[in-house]
Amino acid sequence: MSKMNEQHITTGGMKMRMKIGIVGAGYVGLVSAAVFADWGHDVVCVDHDAEKIGRIRAGDLPVYEPGLADMVERNRQAGRLRFTTDLSRTAGELDLLIIAVGTPAADDGHPDLTALWNVVHSLKQCVKGDLTVAIKSTVPIGTCQAVSRFLNGHPGSRFDVVAAPEFLRQGTAIADFLSPDRVVIGCRTEAAKRKMQQLFAPLACPLLFTDWQSAEMIKYAANAFLAMKISYINTIANLCEQVGADIQQVALGIGLDRRIGPAYLQPGIGFGGSCLPKDTQAIVALGKDYGVDVSLFREVLRVNREQRGRIVQKLADRLGGVQGKTIAVLGLAFKANTNDVREAPALDIITRIVQAGGEVVAYDPAVNMESLKNDFCFTPAADAYQAVTGADAVVILTEWEEFHGLDLQQIRSLMRHPLVIDGRNLYAPHMMKQHGFHYVPVGVPEQEVAEAAATTV
Ligand code: UGA
Repeated sequence: MSKMNEQHITTGGMKMRMKIGIVGAGYVGLVSAAVFADWGHDVVCVDHDAEKIGRIRAGDLPVYEPGLADMVERNRQAGRLRFTTDLSRTAGELDLLIIAVGTPAADDGHPDLTALWNVVHSLKQCVKGDLTVAIKSTVPIGTCQAVSRFLNGHPGSRFDVVAAPEFLRQGTAIADFLSPDRVVIGCRTEAAKRKMQQLFAPLACPLLFTDWQSAEMIKYAANAFLAMKISYINTIANLCEQVGADIQQVALGIGLDRRIGPAYLQPGIGFGGSCLPKDTQAIVALGKDYGVDVSLFREVLRVNREQRGRIVQKLADRLGGVQGKTIAVLGLAFKANTNDVREAPALDIITRIVQAGGEVVAYDPAVNMESLKNDFCFTPAADAYQAVTGADAVVILTEWEEFHGLDLQQIRSLMRHPLVIDGRNLYAPHMMKQHGFHYVPVGVPEQEVAEAAATTV
């Protein structure tokens, strides 16, 4: 526990050490639980999945997140963090209950709120007194209101519902949680506002208090904006390939304009993960529900799908089709520093290669490849060198640090053909050319790659 955090829990005259329950032991739940415990609160993390809780208790976290395992262990040993499957035994004693269960996309694009409502129903059964309930799960606009109505449906029940959307990213979750740009809180009472001010006191960022609906909307609007920025830069990158411009220079030039900013201007294979695709779909579904034209976001999703197809097209164009060709895929996770493959562009790209008759050998340093190899029809490799051996082409789909440091000379010597389709722009084009590769990054015309090599030799 840091000095700042010791102060946080001992100053101010109010009861600073809270008893916090967190339901959902996924990314958001585990990170929140670990950090709040680290700040000195007494935290119990609840998940109905007994196997998951058993694994966590044995020190085997279900998610790969830098720094999380150490933080969980440290706080468990200090007695500030517990894991259980039983909400009813602890819910009655809590100062604050945070709901952080998953809200995956249903077939119609709306989020599936089954897990959230299961928690809310059990809460109503097991808590009779006062309780502040903060919803951290990403939920459709109107959910806090509906939950509050349901929980307070009986005379005597006093549940104070708070919208507490989370903005952390997988892979940098703890750092993001500890230094966010802002914390958004949607609440209706002064008591809830004070409690959340108390909870987030260790953070130096602005706390923005809004109504429920605005807080819920901010989360969707933020993710849809990021998705839009990525589809935008990918579209510009595709143009750059045709007109002879270099997307890295173009992105730099755009990003220096403070009205635009440099973040989320990295072109590539399109966005994946459990949030950006799902939340953009949810905005589209919302537009349909309310009769608002949200075709902008439909287009963002379409551009995103096409971007995956472009990688396969680039392969096919250079190899004369992928039928019978062996393609080495480096990286399966939807981005670096996570083992998550939900909506991972890599899995979609592998499927397209296999459907076109190619054979895929894949490697990822963190993803459990054995559990995916049959469904996605690829052969797992023990490392990048094994993956590229005898390959007709290498496709780079995740920006793992490990891939930056590969011995390119060795990679070149192991491949049957020296074609590298880089979906993450990991390497300097001139260096790849010097190593004898036919290098195809995103947003840089092949002519430029060749000229860069010629001018730097
Ligand atoms: C995203 C948001 O960034 C978080 O603020 C939010 O809290 C989270 O969703 C959520 O709703 O829970 P995350 O899904 O972890 O976080 O991933 P990002 O780092 O945003 O990346 C999403 C995808 O966009 C990845 O596939 C990444 O490779 C891609 N990306 C990102 C690009 O292609 N280019 C970029 O410039 C940035």
